[in-house]
Amino acid sequence: MDGKAGTLDVVVVGGGMITHDQILPSLYQLQRQALIGSIKVCALNSAPLRELAESRRFADAFPGHQFEPFPTLDTPPDKLHPHLFREVIGTLPPGNLVVVAVPDHFHGPVIHAALDHDHHVLAVKPLVPTYAEATEIERRAWAKGLFVGIEYHKRFDRRSLDARQQYRAGRFGEFRCGEAKMIEPYYYRHSNFQNWFTKENSDPFTYVGCHYVDLVHFITGLRPVEVSVRGVEGTFPNGKIGYMWAQGRVVWENGSLLTVTDGLGYPDQAAGTNDQCLTLYCEGEDCGAILSHDDQYRGVQHGYVDNAAGAMFRFVSPDYFRLTPWDGPGLKPVGYGFESIEGLVLAAARVRAAAHGLTGEKALAARQKVLVGINERGILATPANSSINELVTEAARLSIARDGYPARIHYQPVPAVELLRQPE
Ligand SMILES: NC(=O)c1ccc[n+]([C@@H]2O[C@H](COP(=O)([O-])OP(=O)(O)OC[C@H]3O[C@@H](n4cnc5c(N)ncnc54)[C@H](O)[C@@H]3O)[C@@H](O)[C@H]2O)c1
Repeated sequence: MDGKAGTLDVVVVGGGMITHDQILPSLYQLQRQALIGSIKVCALNSAPLRELAESRRFADAFPGHQFEPFPTLDTPPDKLHPHLFREVIGTLPPGNLVVVAVPDHFHGPVIHAALDHDHHVLAVKPLVPTYAEATEIERRAWAKGLFVGIEYHKRFDRRSLDARQQYRAGRFGEFRCGEAKMIEPYYYRHSNFQNWFTKENSDPFTYVGCHYVDLVHFITGLRPVEVSVRGVEGTFPNGKIGYMWAQGRVVWENGSLLTVTDGLGYPDQAAGTNDQCLTLYCEGEDCGAILSHDDQYRGVQHGYVDNAAGAMFRFVSPDYFRLTPWDGPGLKPVGYGFESIEGLVLAAARVRAAAHGLTGEKALAARQKVLVGINERGILATPANSSINELVTEAARLSIARDGYPARIHYQPVPAVELLRQPE
């Protein structure tokens, strides 16, 4: 941890959908750009790692790029290695980067293992289920001068960045009432989700509603003060019970209201691939204002001669993540999915580089100075500047388990969550 400059070596923990779709291709591109050195990926078993390693998509887009799998690909595909991630993280020299891409309820142990070994952290959302756990991560990372960033990629969508700029310049007046929606495809129920997306671990509001709660805060700067979430239960193909749908209402500190509808149930054959949108109705001095984002249909329609995309007609998002031709080998990732990963990796690299040539207290102070700047700018989500998200998750989990009883969020004397009324 003496502040080496240069490339970051990376351990990714989790080899599932998000690693395949967004994280690994982004890391390969950053490896091309010499921002990243070696990449190790650790999963619970070898099966998903084999899929990643043998993926045609990666071979076409990133010829010559590889990751080191843990466990190795020749281990029996179903043999579980739940503690291997600690060993793999331990092999990285201090001051490198751990990417946390495991199921929602398991982020905390992996983040702490990374901090134990003095690594910067890039964690997928939602960070952890409670505010107290987020505060503990913030405290430990600050004491060591380490960066922890949370991957809320919708922040990097140009429409969100522009909305933040215009809202904060007063162009929309004040948010009063609105709605958001994110319905993921039905087929998720048949994926690895059925093993962990059970009632006690997560729900659709926590899993994807958090994106839009985060965005409303990111755009308006408002803090949430009350949350109620009602879920609709269902049975996964393996017989486990989960919330398949959820609807939440968030009350903000100025009294404004946001309804968020989420689910695992968008028709697999439908064009959108999922459904997502945000509308904020606002008020000026003596007029209404509106900020409305259709995040599903972005103006591009493809009708294919084959079924390789899972349907012959699709709305395509050129904005989130596409692998496109460029003046280089293979294909290049473009879109806010890539820019989000890039922004977080660059931040970790900046924090590390700040202490280059320094040791001890001076190295720590130099890293902390960069961390303060990142926290204050508020573009990248960190435990220090985005813990409203953990307050909302904590409140939502309390509420959904009680069929929608509202939970209040207090900020004084310290942030805390409590049920508004107890069930009889
Ligand atoms: N829109 C988004 O921002 C977005 C989208 C998808 C997923 N995510 C988040 O990413 C996380 C993972 O989601 P996913 O869709 O990739 O899930 P997934 O079920 O497809 O994959 C989970 C992975 O975690 C691994 N894992 C579980 N326990 C482990 C352990 N002890 N050690 C090592 N690896 C372990 C599994 O092997 C698997 O590869 C979730 O927190 C989810 O909320 C975010």
